[in-house]
Amino acid sequence: MGTVVLGTGSCLPERILTNVELESIVDTSDEWIQSRTGIAARRIGGKGEKTYQLAAKAAERALEAAGVMADEIDLVIVATLTSHMLMPSTACFVQDEIGAKNAFAYDLNAACSGFLFGFDAADKYIQADHSKKILVIGVETLSSRLNWKDRNTCILFGDGAGAVVVGYSESERGLLKSDFGSDGSLWELLCMYGPQSLNPDLEIENHPGSHVLMGGREVFKHAVRAMEDAVHGVLDKEGIGLDSVDLVIPHQANIRILNKLVERLSIPQEKLFINVSKYGNTSAASIPIALDEANNKGLISVGDTVLFCAFGGGFTWGAVLIKW
Ligand code: COA
Repeated sequence: MGTVVLGTGSCLPERILTNVELESIVDTSDEWIQSRTGIAARRIGGKGEKTYQLAAKAAERALEAAGVMADEIDLVIVATLTSHMLMPSTACFVQDEIGAKNAFAYDLNAACSGFLFGFDAADKYIQADHSKKILVIGVETLSSRLNWKDRNTCILFGDGAGAVVVGYSESERGLLKSDFGSDGSLWELLCMYGPQSLNPDLEIENHPGSHVLMGGREVFKHAVRAMEDAVHGVLDKEGIGLDSVDLVIPHQANIRILNKLVERLSIPQEKLFINVSKYGNTSAASIPIALDEANNKGLISVGDTVLFCAFGGGFTWGAVLIKW
């Protein structure tokens, strides 16, 4: 008995930016990018593909798959670090765009872990009131927040949106356990400053611009360790081992992080869903996009145990276990 996914949806921008095209933007090569990250291409938002528009399209597809009307939705949670505007929230734009007129709506920022944090929050609302139906969306337009002269970061990220409609089921299915963590002391290793302050007393010193800044090697180490701990944490809470898990859908940050995770946890490759080569790291959108793709490919059956894990700026991290 618990919170189940009633439908999934996603929306990727049309424009594909390949590694070969990136070679003319920064000093890099397809070979370097593929061997270090596993990324071959990423999507870049264009006209009609703003953050809220991608999110709304993904939401509409999830609603259609769920057979739920927009006005049946009670809450819209949007996980993003590339909100359309600072105010109002992207969730409010989505609520209007899809006509979810009975829903309240808010954004949540936990960087690349945001979708799982939102999924867990939705579960708490549904546990409190079984009649609720909630849209949880992960969306990013990181192409608008990258320094396209910095080869260390601009090759890694992409744009896109993924969404789920969740509701209550009396069956044995549902969200089983979750395990989350944060460590704000390491914020500088993966961060993005906001707009310049208009109050000089509140200005951030040496404001380096509003784009992604990253200490790649350190992030790599922390990402592997934190996701490994979260996976152990959630499995221990449920009292099961990885052999009871049918599919693992991790945050699609980069193939070397995932390979290390697989090695440390001894996850059989066939249990791991990976699509990072096509979309790069889409931050909060990566897990719901991967979930929608795995679902559409028929890789998840009713009763399967599915494990999600994520890591992102903050630092933030976590794992969620569901019975599909
Ligand atoms: N193309 C070519 N060379 C590049 C490059 C690029 N796109 N980016 C960096 N390099 C160079 C560096 O300048 C450095 O050159 P130098 O030795 O002359 O100084 C060299 O490659 C090695 O750089 P380094 O940063 O040590 O490489 P790395 O093996 O650590 O790989 C990352 C870099 C970013 C791929 C890797 O650290 C990583 O995956 N980190 C995690 C990033 C991530 O996933 N963040 C999001 C988490 S949610």
